[in-house]
Amino acid sequence: MKVIIGSEKEIAEKAAQQYVELLKRKPNAVLGGATGSTPIGLYKELARLNKEGVISFKDVKTFNLDEYVGLDGSHDQSYRYFMNENLFKHIDIDIKNTRVPDGINTAVAADYDKEIEAAGGVDLQVLGIGVDGHIGFDEPGTPLDSITHVVELEQNTREVNSRFFNSIDEVPTHAVTMGIKTIMHARSIILLAIGKSKAEIIKKTLQGPITTDVPASILQLHPDVTFYLDEEAASLL
Ligand code: GLP
Repeated sequence: MKVIIGSEKEIAEKAAQQYVELLKRKPNAVLGGATGSTPIGLYKELARLNKEGVISFKDVKTFNLDEYVGLDGSHDQSYRYFMNENLFKHIDIDIKNTRVPDGINTAVAADYDKEIEAAGGVDLQVLGIGVDGHIGFDEPGTPLDSITHVVELEQNTREVNSRFFNSIDEVPTHAVTMGIKTIMHARSIILLAIGKSKAEIIKKTLQGPITTDVPASILQLHPDVTFYLDEEAASLL
């Protein structure tokens, strides 16, 4: 487990270097994507590096962590829309090579793991973290052996995420998310956290017991995980 602390800009740049190293070594890498406000700086940096010709996504495949149930890709709060707007539009990726779990036809949720496997497995998965320690939408209590599945969102998660919607009533009650096992299968993982609101959960994640009560704490068991934290998120370590 590696921990890198810096300003928001520094951690985005350093995390992006992991992509540079990977894509130089493996131009057809499989990338795991995340949404939320935290990875936006990283995505901007990746777009910049792509524009400057340092990296190319031409042969890359992506699999996103999660999607709200009931929102299709044209909804401006769907995670498909988020990825198109914040990353895919700005890089040379073939959109056909990008996957986000299906929020409409949830019957196919478990097939997502098979698709990931068929693509060769995720080489580098980026994660944010919820204030309750969720990764993807794997809320506290999610079993270690879970694969991609439908979850009911915690009320607190809906409240936190309601900032992106007109009201909490519009926030979906369910989501499809990679499971803990799916996430832990990635060869390398990076978790980004920014701001004071994440300080307490970052302390529990890195220094607390490994428990399904804090889903992100399970990352302590992963052989290649790097935490990129700004000073505020790291302030209680
Ligand atoms: C959502 C996403 C998570 C993300 C979390 C934190 O719940 N499903 O993947 O990590 O939000 O979001 P933010 O980065 O905006 O704090």
